[in-house]
Amino acid sequence: MTHDKLYALAEQARGMAYSPYSRFAVGAALLCDDGTVYTGCNIENAAYSPTVCAERVAIFKAVSEGRRSFKAIAVAGGPAASSKADGDCFPCGVCRQVLAEFCPPTLEVVTHSGVTTLGELLPHAFNL
Ligand code: THU
Repeated sequence: MTHDKLYALAEQARGMAYSPYSRFAVGAALLCDDGTVYTGCNIENAAYSPTVCAERVAIFKAVSEGRRSFKAIAVAGGPAASSKADGDCFPCGVCRQVLAEFCPPTLEVVTHSGVTTLGELLPHAFNL
């Protein structure tokens, strides 16, 4: 699976975003070690705080179906009015912590214009 292909899957998932409050649509595509991909989109709520980010939807789907080993995650986000996510959208702090629960610091994080790692985005991650 290439980074471009994974990003394309994140863009596709972004099409399912439910973001009437922020009008910011995000899609994520999480690549498992075995090649399986789980996607997610942000799902907002009128009470605001129940909103869930695209990345957490993707990883919770994966973990709830027995996946625990991941290689990469692509994130495509931007104003919902635009059908293309052509700027970089990085996982929020909460999503970085959730990813760190299951993924090594070497997890690749693919955004529109490049690739970084979870370890770079969340150095010295908290763990018990
Ligand atoms: N959001 C994500 O889905 N992922 C991120 O990495 C950043 C933020 C969502 C949450 C909310 O629905 C909207 O984008 C604006 O914050």
